[in-house]
Amino acid sequence: MNKADMIVGIQWGDEGKGKIVDMLAQKYNVVARYQGGHNAGHTIVVGDKKLALHLVPSGILNKDAINIIGNGVVFSPKAFMQEIKDNGFDDIKGKLFISDKAHMILNFHQEIDQAREELRGAKAIGTTGKGIGPAYSLKVERNGHRLGELRDIKKLIYSLEDYFNNNKEYFKALNIKIPNKDVLEKELSEYAEFLKPFLCDTTHLIWKLLKEDKKILLEGAQGTLLDIDHGTYPFVTSSNTISAGACSGLGLNPKDIGKVTGIVKAYCTRVGNGPFPTEDLGEEGKILGKNGHEFGTTTGRPRRCGWFDAVACRYASRLNGCDILSLMKLDVLDGFEKIKICTAYEIDGKKTYDFPSSLENVQPVYEEVDGWGKLKGINKYEDLPENAIKYIKKIEELVGTKIGIISTGPDRKETILLN
Ligand code: GDP
Ligand code: IMO
Ligand code: MG
Repeated sequence: MNKADMIVGIQWGDEGKGKIVDMLAQKYNVVARYQGGHNAGHTIVVGDKKLALHLVPSGILNKDAINIIGNGVVFSPKAFMQEIKDNGFDDIKGKLFISDKAHMILNFHQEIDQAREELRGAKAIGTTGKGIGPAYSLKVERNGHRLGELRDIKKLIYSLEDYFNNNKEYFKALNIKIPNKDVLEKELSEYAEFLKPFLCDTTHLIWKLLKEDKKILLEGAQGTLLDIDHGTYPFVTSSNTISAGACSGLGLNPKDIGKVTGIVKAYCTRVGNGPFPTEDLGEEGKILGKNGHEFGTTTGRPRRCGWFDAVACRYASRLNGCDILSLMKLDVLDGFEKIKICTAYEIDGKKTYDFPSSLENVQPVYEEVDGWGKLKGINKYEDLPENAIKYIKKIEELVGTKIGIISTGPDRKETILLN
């Protein structure tokens, strides 16, 4: 039986997962999402065409591929309908399947997310405001609603009303209006009608596809350092973003998993708040942001920028079981005279090579390497400047994982595939 290969983010998201999934999808029969929701923003560039996908898996441009949204995803029907409309995906029936066990994000989840962020004030997480945290919280406290419940709207409304009645004071404290029953009924009926052709038990579907020896690619959202357990808590998202999340998020077992590819930028970015040891608040950080067009795909917020963190990358590679890394956006370092790499952390005067449970008081220890001129768009390893090859080898050595893919631009063609 085939195994499912996986793409997973190594840093704080936005590493370039969409580009690699789209590119590899040409060789796969199935692409599946397993966690997160429309907080994700995965960009695909083909020639002069640019797509930003939030919920739809990045295999959608492969006409022959089946796309799956698994039970571990929190799913906003409204955002999904908008995404289908915006991209003119009108021929995806029979190509896209959505788990009836996935939990729903409705307007009120989004309103709770935003209201709670406002209450946190200076301690805000800097969420995308899409309702991700509240939807996962309600799922875990067994007050959530699965997409399959759209098959019986009356029962669903009854259950929602029950939840609203029991939480009147909470809604009042957050200054959120409890949804009107008729409006809700109309909205949910619309979702039910739209989603009917897509909903199914994707657990059995993926088992069947594996049994038929179909080639399956699993698409992670966010990144390892945003993982609810292993990330920089509490400045994280609300799901397990690491490779282990793919098992629970799709109904696979660890033996179903094949090759794991970690997607990592040649430098580092983060959107939202929380610790970031290698952040560069000076001129060079600004240059990284400008050259890398570092603005959030989902929220448009400027991304914080800094240097490659080998301590974090080694930790992430071990957590995910990466077979190879895909080194992204190497072209963004074009023109830098010197490039910094964080090789260790210093905590209270002591040097460590292990990523700690908390990043409090962590200082990065840097090594500097020589830069190169220009490599943007190069798609042959032997054409890379000597110093870029040295940089790649240095990262491999520090992280202990082979680099199997090098990306030198946003387009599919601007990629070097190594054996
Ligand atoms: P994702 O969330 O991991 O899929 O990443 P995003 O799409 O949010 O952000 C990555 C951005 O970098 C997108 O705008 C991509 O088009 C772009 N990108 C991907 N790979 C490269 C690369 O090698 N070089 C450059 N310059 N841009 C890239
Ligand atoms: P992709 O899949 C980068 C960040 C938010 C915030 C934290 C929690 O495109 O890599 P949430 O809305 O999830 O509760 O926000 O997580 N975040 C991302 N950062 N890329 C993403 O997705 C992200 N999804 C969430 O900025 O710091
Ligand atoms: Mg993104």
